[in-house]
Amino acid sequence: MTPKSFYRRIEGELAELKKCSMLREIPDLDNGAAKELVLSGRKLLNLASNDYLGLAMDESLAHASAEAVVNYGCGSAASRLVTGNFQIYDELERELAAFKEQEDCMLFTSGYTANLAIMDSFAGRRTVVFSDKLNHASILDGIRISGARQVRYRHNDLAHLTKRMEAFKDAQERILITDTIFSMDGDLAYLEEIADLCDFYDTMLVVDEAHAEGVFGLGKGIAFERGIADRVDLHMGAFSKGFGSLGGAVSGRKELISYLRNKGRSFVFTTALPPAVIGANLAALRLIVADPSRGQRLLAMSADLKKDLESAGFDCGNSQSQIIPVILGDNEAALAARDRLIGEGIYAAAIRPPTVPEGTARLRLSLRADLTESDLQKIKCAFAGLKADL
Ligand SMILES: Cc1ncc(COP(=O)(O)O)c(C=O)c1O
Repeated sequence: MTPKSFYRRIEGELAELKKCSMLREIPDLDNGAAKELVLSGRKLLNLASNDYLGLAMDESLAHASAEAVVNYGCGSAASRLVTGNFQIYDELERELAAFKEQEDCMLFTSGYTANLAIMDSFAGRRTVVFSDKLNHASILDGIRISGARQVRYRHNDLAHLTKRMEAFKDAQERILITDTIFSMDGDLAYLEEIADLCDFYDTMLVVDEAHAEGVFGLGKGIAFERGIADRVDLHMGAFSKGFGSLGGAVSGRKELISYLRNKGRSFVFTTALPPAVIGANLAALRLIVADPSRGQRLLAMSADLKKDLESAGFDCGNSQSQIIPVILGDNEAALAARDRLIGEGIYAAAIRPPTVPEGTARLRLSLRADLTESDLQKIKCAFAGLKADL
């Protein structure tokens, strides 16, 4: 039996979360990856998923996934180092490495476990890890389990980063890791300047392209778009967002990937992704390689919507991507705005602290390449109505 003192503490904490409108509950949603999801039986335009290219429901992914199930079964039944390997895993790694113009690549069960493995493998007590304050939670968790010294710098603040790097220039080893698109703000890291600093301070550079792959740089990510891919040591990405499926991947030089394969506990000690997922990932990759225009269209449409929202008086932060925050301030305002949009047939997530800083609760719009002109008009009208109400 759980001791009474635990119950009292847990009940108290849950009550406190509820009081601050911070209690998380799974919404009554269905079909959450479709362009139109279903909320409590109602169809709504989906501006909340990370399926940026609309590939999760793509027929070619579904067929490739079904074919992999028929050929190889439902489960992989072991870690890849034991019996959980299939030829299509090797194929996917080879094709992804070629796409990212890297010597080698390895897959993980998720982007989250990929980041855990990177940090756990390459960082340790001897290492200082420089990390942007808004980096994804998986990076922070990875640093924590690695035992490395974490040195956080203010979000996208190069002067602060330089000071931090100077202060730790005599550390035994240094790694800098950054998201390339920050997931709650949609802004981009200053990668060229960061690469310069890493060169100067002899620091390993790792980029998390989870939200950029499939969209920026002809689908290869922001490091490619900026022309600095060869200055990055490890390129981390995810199939769970622009690729419409599931899984993480890390690419880079042969020795680094071989090291990761040997040291990454979240790779070694877990069952490999099922063949169905690998089939879908391969199909998604081939679609993006063959036609990178979906990402380009998505970015053009996102820039246009951001301009429109800003001229209507909304604060969209410094978004430069398909993720557009509409910052409203307190939690109740964000929840009320979400509910108003639902009334207009649109679903956008209300994001509150601790996911974002106190006082910056927001709607997070994540646009998708399959939105039509009339969908965009509907979104613009709904926000004009919301502004009039505020
Ligand atoms: C920047 C970033 N990295 C990593 C992840 C983890 O990826 P996954 O959802 O595939 O575990 C996320 C997921 O939200 C993310 O936003």
